[in-house]
Amino acid sequence: MTLKGGLGPPLLPADLANKPADLLEDIVFHGLPERAMPPWEGLLTREEIRWLVLHLKKGDLP
Ligand code: HEM
Repeated sequence: MTLKGGLGPPLLPADLANKPADLLEDIVFHGLPERAMPPWEGLLTREEIRWLVLHLKKGDLP
């Protein structure tokens, strides 16, 4: 909700600046097995994930 992290890491633009969009998209799609990040495959499309990552990096989500 605040993108400042909690169980997960912060997802504010400064935190994501050095991470390639392709890498972040893969993390959201596949999750991080054996860590708490769940996979969103089947719930979100690749296109929706690409949109999310683009706007997380831009920092213009509501
Ligand atoms: C659509 C919703 C979500 C998105 C877009 C998202 C996105 C991300 C991204 C991009 C990362 C990698 C961050 C980085 O490498 O700097 C990450 C990591 C992580 N996420 Fe999520 N996440 C979501 C939901 C969740 C939920 C529901 C949980 C917990 C129940 C969660 C827990 C975590 C954790 C613990 C990590 C770090 C894993 C590690 O490196 O050990 N995420 N998430």
